[in-house]
Amino acid sequence: EKGTYPHFMLKEIDEQPIVMRKIINEYQDADNALKLDEDIRKAMQETDRVYIIAAGTSYHAGLVGKEFLEKLANIPVEVHVASEFSYNMPLLSEKPLFVFISQSGETADSRSVLVKIKELGHPALTITNVPGSTLSREADYTLHLHAGPEIAVASTKAYTAQIAVLAILAVDTAQAKNLNLDFDPLQELALVANAMEVLTDQKEEVEQLTRNYLATTRNAFFIGRSADYNVSLEGALKLKEISYIQAEGFAGGELKHGTIALIEEGTPVIALATQENVNYSIRGNVQEVVARGANALVISMKGLEQDEDAFVLPKVHELLTPLISVVPLQLLAYYAALHRDCDVDKPRNLAKSVTVE
Ligand code: M6R
Repeated sequence: EKGTYPHFMLKEIDEQPIVMRKIINEYQDADNALKLDEDIRKAMQETDRVYIIAAGTSYHAGLVGKEFLEKLANIPVEVHVASEFSYNMPLLSEKPLFVFISQSGETADSRSVLVKIKELGHPALTITNVPGSTLSREADYTLHLHAGPEIAVASTKAYTAQIAVLAILAVDTAQAKNLNLDFDPLQELALVANAMEVLTDQKEEVEQLTRNYLATTRNAFFIGRSADYNVSLEGALKLKEISYIQAEGFAGGELKHGTIALIEEGTPVIALATQENVNYSIRGNVQEVVARGANALVISMKGLEQDEDAFVLPKVHELLTPLISVVPLQLLAYYAALHRDCDVDKPRNLAKSVTVE
């Protein structure tokens, strides 16, 4: 039920701090250590390469998860769009582990990959919000997102739940492999939940930004580097999906290889700056587009901000910034759709779960 909310999407954006806390509870044992199925732990230890398979927003969460698994657990990861993998399978490693990420657990493109890799005899883990779903039943193992039902077609709380569970999976694997980590995911996720609360209280500010940057535009660009690039893809998908503004996410450094030709007087460019090692270079990219007339909206993280930034995010662990930088992007998309009188929860041409290939 929507309760007092005008739309499910807004309610689900607001639920994100609660979902983070629920995930912390569900994946914590009595001694505050991580609690995960032994069989999953074993499968993660045995594999030499993880293949993440997903679509849409879940694919974007997979891109963030790749970073966790590689940086924290030292496992090579490939992330594939399900519909591509299905018909163009890459060479597999000796001991692949397939990880399906799917809010609904019913996405046909992912299921088709699951059927194929099961025929080949490979193990599969499904990370889903619906434990009884097809992808969950047909895989060997399941990790539950605990996000509660997601009704709006535009996925919000499932994306952040997927990222949180992937962080827990990566750290659990690192611990099982006796890797020395200076990162307590449960503590860090608790800080993320608090930061998300601050952000969901800033709706008026984001609505004003929507008026300033997206009111009449027909297109918009999202740029970022490294972790911010992954989130810029998700920000663009949210915006196009519900407001029908043509939006694309780009790697900051890639602009000059073509896309910058599209920048005109007044083109909105939303830039994320949450990563210390690329802060200088993304700022350079912002200058390049501003010099060509762009209307640049910089969203930075506390500690990295500059005077001209339109929005500053509370500080969280650098690996977990996607969990918070996405919140103002979800709200920007929401208000852009609202201001254009679009059907926020049920955008045209889209279904909540895509059960055809
Ligand atoms: O249920 P799934 O996570 O497998 O769905 C995958 C995509 O269809 C889904 O994320 C879609 O891109 C969303 N509508 C995006 O908001």
